[in-house]
Amino acid sequence: MAVTPRPAQDGGAARTPFIAGNWKMNLDHLQAIAFVQKLAWSLRDAGHDFAAVEVAVFPPFTDLRSVQTLVAADKLELAYGAQDLSAHDSGAYTGEISGAFLAALDARYVIIGHSERRQYHGETDEVVAAKTAAAIKHGIVPVVCVGETAEDLEQHGPSAVPVAQLRGALAHLSSPADLVIAYEPVWAIGSGQAATPEQAQQVCAALRAELGSLLGADVAAATRILYGGSVKSGNIAGFLRQPDVDGALVGGASLDVAEFSSIARYQKHVGV
Ligand code: 13P
Repeated sequence: MAVTPRPAQDGGAARTPFIAGNWKMNLDHLQAIAFVQKLAWSLRDAGHDFAAVEVAVFPPFTDLRSVQTLVAADKLELAYGAQDLSAHDSGAYTGEISGAFLAALDARYVIIGHSERRQYHGETDEVVAAKTAAAIKHGIVPVVCVGETAEDLEQHGPSAVPVAQLRGALAHLSSPADLVIAYEPVWAIGSGQAATPEQAQQVCAALRAELGSLLGADVAAATRILYGGSVKSGNIAGFLRQPDVDGALVGGASLDVAEFSSIARYQKHVGV
């Protein structure tokens, strides 16, 4: 079953599926070099077509220079990004990393508003909005994370909280921008209990509708919306069969080369 690129609708752009690995706080720069080499070999040996399914890794900050050097030297087609950035450009912000620094390392993407940052670092919708604007200002594509907790789900139903978080994240945006949205239900992250493909589709469709009303039909049609939360090679195909799910943000399973390659190669097991 051919599922790429996602069909263009209403004259909008087709969406290239995107498999993104969020390493979280795992793998130092030496481990990152070994991992990225193995991943690149694994995908090359499998004949992976990066134009058909984009693959990216999101290492810790201290790994990024090593990953950049390796990707550039070996002309790897793998993309990479950071897991966070500062809302500020430069100055007295101890411990923070500017989007300008990430741009200087050719980072294509940056994850913003992951639930672990919202939960453990007090990131509010306002902070997420400021960081999203900063990423765009520096030419880095934000991967904006939204998702409800189990309590939110019980109290507000499936889409209300993710849609409100999306509205908050895009508060400073008034014109079309290159964005990726990741729907990650908090209850599904690291729990082994993924959402069902139908649940993911329902929320991703609601997020796309919201994008349409905020930024217009063209942005809604062109923006990739990922699902994240206990994605594995055994369940990825079900998510990618959904019309509004354009890829996955993978945590634990992105730390295993064979497993992550297999997720990126989901088209080979769609329908099995
Ligand atoms: P898991 O794939 O480990 O559930 O993590 C998902 C996630 O948080 C990716 O950002």
